[in-house]
Amino acid sequence: MSTVLISGASSGLGWALALCYAEPGTTIHLLARRADRLSALSFEISKRGSHAVIHKEDVRDRHRMESLAKKILDADGSPSLIIANAGVSGESGGNDAQTMKEILDTNVLGVLHTVLPFLPAMKTAGSGRIAIIGSLAGYRGLTKGGAYCASKAALSAWTDVIRYESESFGLTVSLVNPGFIKTEMTRHNPPMPFVLSADEAARRIRIGIDKGAARIEFPLFLVLLVRFLTLLPPRWGDRILRLSSSSS
Ligand SMILES: NC(=O)c1ccc[n+]([C@@H]2O[C@H](COP(=O)([O-])OP(=O)(O)OC[C@H]3O[C@@H](n4cnc5c(N)ncnc54)[C@H](OP(=O)(O)O)[C@@H]3O)[C@@H](O)[C@H]2O)c1
Repeated sequence: MSTVLISGASSGLGWALALCYAEPGTTIHLLARRADRLSALSFEISKRGSHAVIHKEDVRDRHRMESLAKKILDADGSPSLIIANAGVSGESGGNDAQTMKEILDTNVLGVLHTVLPFLPAMKTAGSGRIAIIGSLAGYRGLTKGGAYCASKAALSAWTDVIRYESESFGLTVSLVNPGFIKTEMTRHNPPMPFVLSADEAARRIRIGIDKGAARIEFPLFLVLLVRFLTLLPPRWGDRILRLSSSSS
């Protein structure tokens, strides 16, 4: 019997991940603010022989997230997998302080609120996996969305530390850095290079989590491109980004 918790399960990648883990013998805890969407997903999950429990919660609320963790731990024990997926990109994609605060509250503090209350129990159990959904945008600032890029860069560094601290207790921690995925978040984007469906992204993520990969990143071309950009002097990278955004 395994227990999986997925935040941001009401749409996009979180929804696809929940279906990807829906199999007999698994209890899936679905978390997001839109309860109606979670109920619809829970129905789909039960058709696949899995048991779904829905939690209408806001990951920004630390106290409620701590109470939720206690409830899950009391009911099901230490989870086998937590996927901290809930995230926002900001309507304006702005670089202002208000946008930064809103995005960091969800994308960074929300992830901490999702994972940290479970860590002591998982360490005591000596098993369990944690997957943090970052982004290739966490490698360096891109052409816009400074707050979003910054939030994913923060997650990347934080995940390294959590992995370092937790894996000696028998846990596995993965940072997931996808490229573009077709979801509500990207619905107003201009055409996206190497875009994947949420189902395909979820499939790749599950393979990486099952392998215990420290980093799960795709698609390969974009991974190589962002890694290459980080090796260049910063203004060379700026020039390449300017060229690519003027040609698209
Ligand atoms: N789409 C891409 O191209 C892409 C690429 C790389 C990484 N990612 C990352 O993938 C993750 C999922 O994004 P997506 O593309 O699937 O977008 P999405 O369809 O907009 O899904 C975002 C999910 O996060 C939930 N959420 C947002 N704020 C929340 C809050 N305060 N409390 C609880 N849940 C909250 C939303 O649910 P409610 O609104 O119902 O609360 C929704 O289920 C994000 O972390 C995103 O940064 C996406």
